[in-house]
Amino acid sequence: MTNTATLPRPDVHPGPPKLDRDQLRRAQQETLDTPRMKYSLLAKMMFKPVDIMYGKEGSFTKFAMLEIIARVPYQAWERMGYWAVHRHRTSSGLARRVFERIVEARSDQDNEQFHLLIMEDLIDRQGLKRNWLLHRAAPWLIALFYYHVSWVLFLVKPDWSYRLNAEFEDHAEHEYMTFVAENPDLEFVPDPGTYADEYGRYRSVADLMRQIGHDERVHKLGSLENMRDPRVAA
Ligand SMILES: [Fe+2]
Ligand SMILES: [Fe+2]
Repeated sequence: MTNTATLPRPDVHPGPPKLDRDQLRRAQQETLDTPRMKYSLLAKMMFKPVDIMYGKEGSFTKFAMLEIIARVPYQAWERMGYWAVHRHRTSSGLARRVFERIVEARSDQDNEQFHLLIMEDLIDRQGLKRNWLLHRAAPWLIALFYYHVSWVLFLVKPDWSYRLNAEFEDHAEHEYMTFVAENPDLEFVPDPGTYADEYGRYRSVADLMRQIGHDERVHKLGSLENMRDPRVAA
């Protein structure tokens, strides 16, 4: 009988790199020195209501809302990816490349999930108030809209689906890095480290937010890269 315990396990997608203190500061400056992408009408249709409901300025409650909807395109692509793997099941090379995209999408979903958990933890620690309409119903509705937009776009024009996500990630990257710049007191708030085992521990909440901002940049670059071969057919 084969001893399966000795079989090598495939590498999992490592997710965005964790940066040290100096790298985080440099990453923040790079973001602040880089103009935002030109956002499409669809992207603006999501950013505008969020600004109206949660304020133009960044806040932990606004970021929690953004993180709820950030996972959605990755979920849509994962679902579409399984359909594609099934369709290409007789072509092992292509099926494998599609599957690699699924692994990437799952890893990015997990990363976004930790962003959300970290935001929820910071909200709880600060005793910030949330209400059912703004912090449950509205995120659910926007996420539902975004999910369907993501998979329909992926079906008809997959590069647009990646482009829309790149815009969303670019927006998130700038929101986090600007928030840190505008709230220097966060440098003196220690990272509570609630999810240190899964996400790492940082010197301050400012650095924790910079790391999240940098993750968003990595997500953006991933989507821009995937735009070049959206159907994994090349
Ligand atoms: Fe995120
Ligand atoms: Fe992201």
